[in-house]
Amino acid sequence: MPTTRTTVLFRRTPDGLPKLDDFEIVKDTLPPLADGQILIENRFLSLDPYMRMQMGGGWTYSGTSLKPGDVMVGRILGAVIETKNPEYKIGDHVVGRLGWRTHAISNGNDLDFKIQQKSGVPLSAYLGACGSNGVTAWVGLKVVGAVKPTDTVLVSAAAGSVGSAVGQIAKDMGCKAYGIAGGAEKCRIVSEEFGFDGCVDYKSNDWPERLHAMCPDGFDVYFDNVGGEMLDNVMAQMKRDGRIPVCGVLSEYNAAGEPYGIRNGRLLFDKSLRLQGFVLNSYRDKWDEARAELVSLIGAGKLKYLETIANGIDLAPAAFIGMLEGKNLGKQLVRLS
Ligand SMILES: NC(=O)c1ccc[n+]([C@@H]2O[C@H](COP(=O)([O-])OP(=O)(O)OC[C@H]3O[C@@H](n4cnc5c(N)ncnc54)[C@H](OP(=O)(O)O)[C@@H]3O)[C@@H](O)[C@H]2O)c1
Repeated sequence: MPTTRTTVLFRRTPDGLPKLDDFEIVKDTLPPLADGQILIENRFLSLDPYMRMQMGGGWTYSGTSLKPGDVMVGRILGAVIETKNPEYKIGDHVVGRLGWRTHAISNGNDLDFKIQQKSGVPLSAYLGACGSNGVTAWVGLKVVGAVKPTDTVLVSAAAGSVGSAVGQIAKDMGCKAYGIAGGAEKCRIVSEEFGFDGCVDYKSNDWPERLHAMCPDGFDVYFDNVGGEMLDNVMAQMKRDGRIPVCGVLSEYNAAGEPYGIRNGRLLFDKSLRLQGFVLNSYRDKWDEARAELVSLIGAGKLKYLETIANGIDLAPAAFIGMLEGKNLGKQLVRLS
């Protein structure tokens, strides 16, 4: 059994985009297991934008920020390699929020689920397309967005892990699905590989006009991953009684100074729009149902996904920074062993 592990710690709150020395990589010695504990060898680490919020410099939806010296928060997928807990056997694969580290000790209470791997679904997908990202897309669209098969759906950060799942789930239901993403290549992938009906590049100045030209009748559901000015622009293109599940505010995670103030707020009234933020943890009762459906969509080839994988825990900080800059395609992971 291993006696040492590598861990990434939070060192200080970044000024804007994080830098490598905002993190610290340390080694420590694993203590022996107590009764009820398991030792997990982590295989993949999921990197997610919310971690930037946890690094402070502002508010967090969970109410707490990391303190210098804390282990970086994050979900891992790992294999049980030693067990003193009868509910887990060696070789079980588990997912849980155990942080940026190569090995973790758990009593099971901090795990999300034990993987019952289905054929045709690679392990790594249980952190992305049928993990928390896919489940977020499913909950935001079906529960918060109350999407109907006749709806026209728009999603921002459409080439990302959540965004690409949103459009494909919507298409599977019979909806029309459009995306907003950064750059021509990402837009091509969203349309051609993920099968959306169209995608606009928000890095072109006239993207609101292009969005209107692409879908002149407007949108019933806007799955908002970005917030800020993009949300303002899209509100003007919503249909009456439209719904806007607010999943994240990517435009604000690294922003310094005063946050952008929404200008089109009166459209909520004019068009009877419903704007509702949501956090996945509030919908635990839906996780199993969502995951089962996502697994079957993947198996049927109806939910495609891309992964960007960094190799080795030492590269986790650089991969995380790259994801915040939009260098990832689909789910950003770190392979740990
Ligand atoms: N509510 C919840 O419980 C919950 C759970 C999971 C995730 N989320 C949220 O879901 C959203 C997507 O997360 P994800 O894990 O799937 O990440 P992701 O989309 O795979 O990766 C982040 C992407 O954000 C885009 N981006 C970065 N800065 C941006 C900006 N200023 N404006 C527009 N786009 C920007 C980049 O793509 P481009 O190259 O296209 O810019 C980047 O690739 C995030 O807002 C995240 O916080 C929420």
